[in-house]
Amino acid sequence: MAIHAGAPRRSTLAPGDHAKLDDLRARLADLKDEPGATLEALYAAQEVFSYVPPEAVTMIAEELSMPESEVFGVLTFYTMFHRKPSAKYVLRVCRDLSCHISGAPAVLKALNDELGTRVSEVTEDGLFETESVSCLGLCDLQPAVMVNLEQHGPLDAAKARSLLADLRAREA
Ligand code: FES
Repeated sequence: MAIHAGAPRRSTLAPGDHAKLDDLRARLADLKDEPGATLEALYAAQEVFSYVPPEAVTMIAEELSMPESEVFGVLTFYTMFHRKPSAKYVLRVCRDLSCHISGAPAVLKALNDELGTRVSEVTEDGLFETESVSCLGLCDLQPAVMVNLEQHGPLDAAKARSLLADLRAREA
């Protein structure tokens, strides 16, 4: 079942990404007969594209013989999947109660102010974006932030700015 009824969909893929669909199809071939392979298929798509584009959702639905809406439902349920190209450094700030009380809002604000972005907006250079997420499992580091797979905390506004400076220095 198509998610977007009506007008035909335009491709959202960058020109260089079309060839990656073949790569994804090859990887899905191994999952066809596995029960409950949707998560694995979405992980495969994210590995291939670094996010899960609509074209991948359609392909997964076709290859796993399931409704597109079901694939989309799984995609949107889990926060680890990206539905748009993400920045090189994704800074995930915990918003749960313990981190909130210990200063996470000030950390998130400092990061966004410094970057000139809002949550989930990618900077023009493609390097950074912030996300506000549920518990990162780093409650002993509250307020905690993950930069991709790196753990940081406890942070305050000044340390958050210094973290950004460190990340920028890696790119210099
Ligand atoms: S509550 Fe923030 S990392 Fe667990």
